[in-house]
Amino acid sequence: MWLQLSLTTSKEQAPLIEALFENMGALSITLGDAGDEPILEPGLNETPLWQSTQITALFEGDSDPDNLRSCINQSLNNDVSCQLKIERLKDQAWERTWLADFHPMPFGQRLWVCPTGQRPKANNAIIMELDPGLAFGTGTHPTTALCLKWLDSIDLKHQTIIDFGCGSGILAVAALLLGAERAIATDHDPQARQATLDNAKKNHVDAKLEIKEPHQIPSIQVDILLANILAGTLIQLESRLASQVKLGGRIILSGILIAQADEVSQVFNRHFEMQPPIIQAEWVALEGTKKC
Ligand SMILES: C[S@@+](CC[C@H](N)C(=O)[O-])C[C@H]1O[C@@H](n2cnc3c(N)ncnc32)[C@H](O)[C@@H]1O
Repeated sequence: MWLQLSLTTSKEQAPLIEALFENMGALSITLGDAGDEPILEPGLNETPLWQSTQITALFEGDSDPDNLRSCINQSLNNDVSCQLKIERLKDQAWERTWLADFHPMPFGQRLWVCPTGQRPKANNAIIMELDPGLAFGTGTHPTTALCLKWLDSIDLKHQTIIDFGCGSGILAVAALLLGAERAIATDHDPQARQATLDNAKKNHVDAKLEIKEPHQIPSIQVDILLANILAGTLIQLESRLASQVKLGGRIILSGILIAQADEVSQVFNRHFEMQPPIIQAEWVALEGTKKC
């Protein structure tokens, strides 16, 4: 058994309460969004908090809840008993628990993303083994799903691709499994580059994949460049991304909200013949073909 305490507080007070829980012997502390204020992609090495932040701390099961409560009240010089939620949690095989919500998922006609050891009941499936990790990209998010379905829908034979903002490497690995000849994956986050390498090895496509820091990408022009980042970053990177696509080559942009599609399309129209958006939930992907 574990004892879990959670408290909702302001962005300003959250670090103080986090330090207090740590001093009180918390075994883990989690900070989360208490007010539906998504932070889609913080900058590198930034850990912004939410205006209303929920702090959840886990203590040993034999900790005394009354002692913990009075320690918090005293330290904060305020009676927070009404806001404080205290629960007992049963011990679980946590590393297996997430599997209850993560099953083989199809993307288009051939591609399946499967947790380790699980297989779909489908003939001729192309399987990517992938487990959730620290880097973004399992296929459950529409921005990734849009790119995976697009990759599944085209012939990738003899194609070289760049996966710009590779996260877990899911798009580069999928492209190689679906028949691409070579892939270059890049991300400014070292954790993402490591996850990409691990996932490429797990799926036996690492020999065809180069993983680079963004400034190390070879100055080649590829057949297909995929970038699932965010609208603002895509707009900033337009010239850079366009320079890496050959004439007649294609760019797939994702991470764009429906309301942002026109602006992104207009900016990329400088170098690409842009297609109408492909929509899933509130997200769109944009495809463009490089023009002279
Ligand atoms: C939304 S995730 C996409 C991950 C994966 N490609 C997918 O489709 O699921 C965006 C990734 O882009 C990376 N990223 C954001 N801005 C970047 C930049 N300016 N240069 C390189 N990588 C960047 C982030 O670190 C993150 O891993």
